[in-house]
Amino acid sequence: MEKLTILLVGSGGREHALAWKIAQSPLCGRLVAAPGNPGIAAVAELKPVKATDADGLVALAQEIGANLVVVGPESALEVGLADKLAEIGVPCFGGSQRAAQLETSKAFTKDFCKRHGLPTAAYGVFEDAASAGEFLDTLEAPFVIKADGLAAGKGVVIAPDRASADAAVVDMLGGRFGSAGARVVIEEFMHGEEASLFAISDGKTAVLFGAAQDHKRAYDGDEGPNTGGMGTYSPPPVLTDALIEQAWRELIVPTVEGMAAEGNPYVGVLYAGLMLTEAGPKLVEYNARFGDPECQVLMLRLESDIVPTLLAAAKGELASAEPPKWRDEAAICVVLAAEGYPDAPKTGGLIQGAEADYGHEAEIFHAGTARDPDGKLVASGGRVLNVCALGATLHEARDVAYAALGTVSLEGGFYRSDIGWRALSQH
Ligand code: AMP
Ligand code: GLY
Repeated sequence: MEKLTILLVGSGGREHALAWKIAQSPLCGRLVAAPGNPGIAAVAELKPVKATDADGLVALAQEIGANLVVVGPESALEVGLADKLAEIGVPCFGGSQRAAQLETSKAFTKDFCKRHGLPTAAYGVFEDAASAGEFLDTLEAPFVIKADGLAAGKGVVIAPDRASADAAVVDMLGGRFGSAGARVVIEEFMHGEEASLFAISDGKTAVLFGAAQDHKRAYDGDEGPNTGGMGTYSPPPVLTDALIEQAWRELIVPTVEGMAAEGNPYVGVLYAGLMLTEAGPKLVEYNARFGDPECQVLMLRLESDIVPTLLAAAKGELASAEPPKWRDEAAICVVLAAEGYPDAPKTGGLIQGAEADYGHEAEIFHAGTARDPDGKLVASGGRVLNVCALGATLHEARDVAYAALGTVSLEGGFYRSDIGWRALSQH
């Protein structure tokens, strides 16, 4: 088969993990990343085009003769990158602007769930505080209040009592999240443990693409503010094969079929944030992309070549593709974050030891890193490095990752020392 020219869009740890895996493929002739980061530069050519510059990315895809575009962040989908690539016939792994509404609009997703009978929390969508208040009257504390649009993961308030719920509604409708809060979604609170399930779809069919568990709070013991994710591991034992099968049957299959039936076929990663309730898995949210840092552990565990799967999904040929193969080992990812993350991350801190070769077991992926004018590696974002490892057991993977962490440093940086605790504490 002719070697492919692949354009990867994005610049975080998720994209470094994808680039690392794609670059290992015998099918990959040339890998270009836009805009990429210093870690990705080790395995791909970088081009300074932003993920939200759809026209710039289309021009770049044409210039390099891309046979496949792989989209990391949802921000590129939201500006219609996949739609524009479809117009010029370039296969794109990533959904159309309309399909990406499964992530970009909570109201769209809740209405979709209702139309197709998918298990999720009861909800209402409101544009004024009075009708929101009437719905809150029907629920019990705690209350879940969400800004409708994308608010960088920060548009969710779990209010312990009615007064703070009312305040959150007024705050969101009053413009705290800009246009993302023009409508608020209020939900019933679901009790249980959370886990993430991944599927890859070509618009008609889907394949299972692993599972992981994230750690959203900034500090040990799940304390502190919510973040984009401080660490992950895979597989999560709490998500048993039986629960995966149930979520597949009750959520993933009807979603892929429902989107297709509504003329809105879904292509790319379907990332289901699940709540494992007493009544079975329920949907917390869908994302139209790989999780970050969930992707990192999936890439370590994926044994087969990722390129045929991405290409088959982009071309609508998943049914005839080889299913992905997974290693039996466990994988873990620990995020090294900048001082002040998530509220006010301090950039510019010097990073040392991140460019060593850790051999087969450990990998360090770059998230928010940059080169200073002297070529030194410095922090440029809140989450800076992803220290990842594979092990025969999660205990082993954890030990390898934390040993590797001991050899890197970031001025003022911090990480959680308890990634994987839910699974580790069971043994
Ligand atoms: P979301 O942005 O919708 O994923 O929400 C962020 C986090 O808020 C989730 O990961 C859950 O921990 C929590 N959450 C959201 N919706 C609910 C709900 N209906 N019940 C319980 N927890 C929720
Ligand atoms: N780690 C959570 C996310 O990517 O949404």
